[in-house]
Amino acid sequence: QIFENSELASFTVANEIAELIRQRQKQGKKVVLGLATGSTPTKVYDFLVRFHQEEGLSFKNVVTFNLDEYFPMEPDSIHSYVRFMREHLFDHIDIKKENIHIPDGTLDREEVRDFCQEYEAKIKAAGGLDIQVLGIGRTGHIGFNEPGSSLNSITRMVRLDRVTRLDAASDFFGLENVPKKAITMGVGTILAAKRIILMAWGEGKSDIIRQAVEGKIRESVPATFLQNHENCEVMTDLAAASSL
Ligand code: GLP
Repeated sequence: QIFENSELASFTVANEIAELIRQRQKQGKKVVLGLATGSTPTKVYDFLVRFHQEEGLSFKNVVTFNLDEYFPMEPDSIHSYVRFMREHLFDHIDIKKENIHIPDGTLDREEVRDFCQEYEAKIKAAGGLDIQVLGIGRTGHIGFNEPGSSLNSITRMVRLDRVTRLDAASDFFGLENVPKKAITMGVGTILAAKRIILMAWGEGKSDIIRQAVEGKIRESVPATFLQNHENCEVMTDLAAASSL
C-alpha cells in the first residue's frame, strides 16, 4: 500500500495492531507482536501510546519479541534497542515486564547459542508471532539479517554489513563505535509470523524497496524472501514507492 505520507501509513498499521489487541482481549487471549527498532516504526509506537493514553487501550494481553540487538550492548546505553523500546513504547503503556523479550547484548559469547535457542523456543511457546513489524536497511536487511542470510536462518549472532555500520555511524558518533555484531531473529523466524508488515519511508529507501518487491528472490537481498510469505504487506509513503 502506498500512502500519501508516513503519518497516514503509521496510523493504519497502529490501528491494525490495536484492533487485534482488542479482539483478542474480548476472547481472553494474548497477542504476540514482533517489534522493530530504527526510525521507521517510531510513529506507529507514538500512535499506540496515544491509543493507550487517550482511549485506554490496554497492553496487558500483549507479548512482544524484538527483532534484534547490537552485540555487545548494555541495556541502559543510549544506543541499545532495550532503551529505544522503553523510550518509544514500553515506558508509556501498561505492558507487563515479563511479556517483553529483546535479544540480550550483555551475554558472554559462549552463552549466546543457548540464549538464541531459548528465544526461538519462547516465540513458539507463546504461539508464534501474530504480527511482525519490519523496517528495511539499505542492504536489504530485515532485522539484522544481512546479505547472505539464508531462508531458514533462525535467531543467532551475526556480523553487521559495512553499509549498515556506516548508516549507524552518526548515531554512534563515528564508525569505530558501531558494534561489529548483533543478535537477530533469523529470516526463518520472521517468515514464520502469521502476518508481516514491512514499512519504508523516504526516497533513500526507494531503490531497496524496488529490489525487495520486484527483484528476484535471493540471499543477497534478504527482504526478497518476504515475497513468498502468504500474508506480508509493504507499506510505503510516496517517496519510498517512487522507483516501483
Ligand atoms: C536497523 C534495524 C532494522 C531496521 C533498520 C532500518 O538496522 N536493526 O530492524 O529496519 O535499522 O532503520 P531505519 O528504520 O532507521 O531506517
